[in-house]
Amino acid sequence: MTQSTPRKILVTGCASGIGLAQTMLFLDKGDQVYGVDKQRPRAFNQPNFFFYQADLAGDLTDLLAQLPQTFDVICHTAGILDDYKPLLETSDADFTQIWATNLTPVITFTRHFLPEMIAQKSGIIITMCSIASFVAGGGGAAYTTSKHALAGFTKQLALDYARTGVQIFGIAPGAVKTGMTRQDFEADNGQMADWVAGETPIGRWAEPSEIAELTAFLASGKASYMHGEIVKIDGGWTLK
Ligand code: NAI
Repeated sequence: MTQSTPRKILVTGCASGIGLAQTMLFLDKGDQVYGVDKQRPRAFNQPNFFFYQADLAGDLTDLLAQLPQTFDVICHTAGILDDYKPLLETSDADFTQIWATNLTPVITFTRHFLPEMIAQKSGIIITMCSIASFVAGGGGAAYTTSKHALAGFTKQLALDYARTGVQIFGIAPGAVKTGMTRQDFEADNGQMADWVAGETPIGRWAEPSEIAELTAFLASGKASYMHGEIVKIDGGWTLK
């Protein structure tokens, strides 16, 4: 279904997994998507898709100058996982890289685009948290720390700017079949993937499209009395 006025939507991590599913769903709904990723997505043949290739862990000055200065919706989706390593097996460099990807660009982008959203008294910002924003074990020391920090950032942002007309949300997925988790399916005949499915109360992994559908709802304006919520979509993982 298409809308009469296309919204401008920024999606980071648009080339794979959840970001790709969000991009495709927004395009399907008639939105304009400005996608950022360090790798090229497959061709969409979509006049409403604008791609910016950039490393979000690097200097963002040029990228921020090239992007449109106003967005209706921003999905901070790009992220990287660690190797589920505990602190003593995680170097400072690993911590820095995870932090520089999962948290710092979210802060930099939000600082850049929020003033215009506030001026327009509208806008929706969605961060991609994780069950690792709530519990340990969804990643290693670096990933879990970064996702807890991202949840904290999301909540404080939502509280500080609650009366501006800008809506702020987080999404906290459990196990989603994407490039990030591909190894779980490929190594050891997929034993890890089977274990994760077994440990998930509803007994299966999520498809990226399921996270995209939740994103579309939060971005729709229909979640009008929700604010600052970090919505779990984890097949019941955090019930235990
Ligand atoms: P993915 O690996 O399939 O996609 C991530 C995308 O982000 C890739 O296209 C990658 O190139 C891009 N990216 C990574 N680092 C970047 C950088 N420095 N600069 C520019 N682009 C960069 O992963 P997936 O699973 O779609 O993850 C998306 C988000 O969802 C991440 O924030 C992840 O932490 C979160 N998440 C994923 C879960 C899962 O089970 N797959 C569970 C919970 C959260």
